[in-house]
Amino acid sequence: MRAFEDRRESGSVRETENGRNLPHETLTRRADEAARAGADSVQGDPFRLRYHFMPASGWMNDPNGLIQYRGEYHLFYQHYPYGDKWGPMHWGHAKSKDLVRWEHLPVALAPSEFYDLGDKDGYGCWSGSAVESDGKLVLFYTGHVDGRKPTEAQCMAASEDGVRFEKFAGNPVIADVPDEGERFGFRDPKVWRHGDRWYMVVGSGKNGRGQALLYKSAGLTDWEYVGVAAESDGTQGDMWECPDLFPLGGKHVLALSPMNMEGTKNLYLVGEMDYERGVFTPEAQGKLDDGFDFYAAQTFLDDKGRRILIGWMDMWGSKMIAENRGWYGAMTLPRELKLLPDGTLASVPVEELNALRGEELAYEELRLEDGRPRSWSRPAAMEWLAELDSDGTTAKELEIRLTGEPDEEDVTAIRYVFAERKLTVDRERSGMGDGGVSTSVLPPSAGDRIKLRLFADTSSIELFVNDGQRVVTNRIYPRTSSRSLVLEAVGGEVRFANLKLWSLGDGRDGEEG
Ligand code: FRU
Repeated sequence: MRAFEDRRESGSVRETENGRNLPHETLTRRADEAARAGADSVQGDPFRLRYHFMPASGWMNDPNGLIQYRGEYHLFYQHYPYGDKWGPMHWGHAKSKDLVRWEHLPVALAPSEFYDLGDKDGYGCWSGSAVESDGKLVLFYTGHVDGRKPTEAQCMAASEDGVRFEKFAGNPVIADVPDEGERFGFRDPKVWRHGDRWYMVVGSGKNGRGQALLYKSAGLTDWEYVGVAAESDGTQGDMWECPDLFPLGGKHVLALSPMNMEGTKNLYLVGEMDYERGVFTPEAQGKLDDGFDFYAAQTFLDDKGRRILIGWMDMWGSKMIAENRGWYGAMTLPRELKLLPDGTLASVPVEELNALRGEELAYEELRLEDGRPRSWSRPAAMEWLAELDSDGTTAKELEIRLTGEPDEEDVTAIRYVFAERKLTVDRERSGMGDGGVSTSVLPPSAGDRIKLRLFADTSSIELFVNDGQRVVTNRIYPRTSSRSLVLEAVGGEVRFANLKLWSLGDGRDGEEG
């Protein structure tokens, strides 16, 4: 790992040639070489994930530029290839045919110009999105330069082949905030097409309220400010990072990563979008995920008509960021979003993930007697699916524990309290990472029905309750490699109508380098 840290010096993006900045092409190539060179040294890390997307090496945060282009899924991401901490932001890039097996592609964007390259560390090509126009893959991102005003501006880059990107000569396409007065942030452009126009929302905040600013354009390079599409009601944070506005099931959804909001770091609003007035009116709100490691989610529409969401499966400030492991960051499983009849959202793992299923253990019925736990040894990468038989269940609680063997070291405990429809995920004793207990309450419409689907990877768990009515995503870092799954009924009996356990294969099979 030492060699890894040294590279930050030798590969510094601030290097110049005859006093001038190196060309973008050279900078992306160097960045890519650095990420690939670090790949070997991170191989042995037991916390490298088996079927979740990660950078080959180095740092990764937000998913960017999600798009299906020429039949393939593209995932870009905030990337610092010269170290395992956040640094001058590049855009990493990968593609996939099935959303399961990803192939690393060359780094797409590196800081190289006056609007994204600065002298202080907080500069770079910050988050954004992708669209297809005239056969080209076009990226929008925020050029961020600390210590300069304006600090943030919206920029564009395009590619003919979906691999090499050239920055637009007329950048930035939106050079400054649209109005007078102090703004808290002006970043993370999300662009989409509606009717005969392009639209863009940009995350910002004013007077202590998060905002999504709306722009429109006929040809992608000239943007006209429409106005504030939506604003915090005073309880929804003071800056809205990564806003994403999209149609779903006859409504519109605004997904956000609010800063300084009490109780959550992710939020969605469901409502109506009036394109004439440029105003989104929310009618309902909720959390996309109740866990601790879910941020900066972005969605895109694929050719099957699915609205697919991927989030950063980590959180700013998490304890593991401090570790020097040569890499950091993972993406959640891709999830299909659905609007439910009660006006809330559900997110379900995309069906392609079933291809990861290996060995299966299946029960048609299973009874858990009060206080008599049952346990299975399990692989690190697994999926568990269980449906309760509510008629036969008399217990007050069901507890599901993911533990290390033999004495239940490093326990992650999922508890469901039937009377309150309350689910907690407790990672206080999960291992090396952060602790915390999250609480989710199922809506009354759930009734007695409980279907649990749990995806575990070497250092993550994602729990989907009742086909994604609630989702809980956490990183966990258990110290032991032998693992079990323990089920226990408390205060009565629990009956399962069916229960299945699969070992999951390695989603990296098709990965190159
Ligand atoms: C969200 C975020 C974005 C920003 C990016 C910088 O996690 O803070 O607002 O563009 O990360 O890496």
